[in-house]
Amino acid sequence: MSKKKKKKDLFSRIASYYDKLIGDFDYHSLKEYLDLNQNDILLDIGGGTGRASKILEKEVNQCIILERSIEMLKQAKKSSKSLFLIQGLSNKIPLKNNSVNKIFLNDTIHHIREQKETIDDCYYVLGKQGKLIIRDYDRSYFWNFFLILFEKILMFKSKFLTPFELEEMVKNHPFEDINIKRPNKSTFIFEATK
Ligand SMILES: C[S@@+](CC[C@H](N)C(=O)[O-])C[C@H]1O[C@@H](n2cnc3c(N)ncnc32)[C@H](O)[C@@H]1O
Repeated sequence: MSKKKKKKDLFSRIASYYDKLIGDFDYHSLKEYLDLNQNDILLDIGGGTGRASKILEKEVNQCIILERSIEMLKQAKKSSKSLFLIQGLSNKIPLKNNSVNKIFLNDTIHHIREQKETIDDCYYVLGKQGKLIIRDYDRSYFWNFFLILFEKILMFKSKFLTPFELEEMVKNHPFEDINIKRPNKSTFIFEATK
């Protein structure tokens, strides 16, 4: 019987040079938006190579990456020994309810197919007063058209959102204090408190 080798997804194929391709995570310009503190248990969903987490972990008590691609996680393991790494899917978060108090998705929500189910799981895993922080590219900003096209060409099957579509999505849950912040025209930071 012939064994068909499963084709790796694009992130797994580019994992070893992903950081060089994308560049450093600019924590400095995002610091005020993320509002992290030393007691936080931070879950970085789709945390990839740990590009953001290896910086953010210094600001919090514990940083956990949940990531689909093993190859990306292998890079995260190299980037920091103290990160807690979990291979899995955002819509099946293998953590207890109320177990983290910050969840961050950086440049990730548009790559997730099960966006609604991911928000559901985030709600359950967050503790009371916990914060969901989503940073992404705004589909409605004209110049992001080229990014959207580029990802289409790469056959990423991305689903870009506007911050208002995201707001509609989280309305299934009684999140409080929904905030949409704009570090620049192309990106938004969506924040909701449980
Ligand atoms: C553009 S990368 C961003 C990586 C990281 N957040 C950063 O800022 O460097 C998107 C990541 O999301 C991961 N991903 C996509 N869908 C996922 C899912 N459903 N669950 C977990 N990770 C997922 C991909 O494997 C990839 O590593």
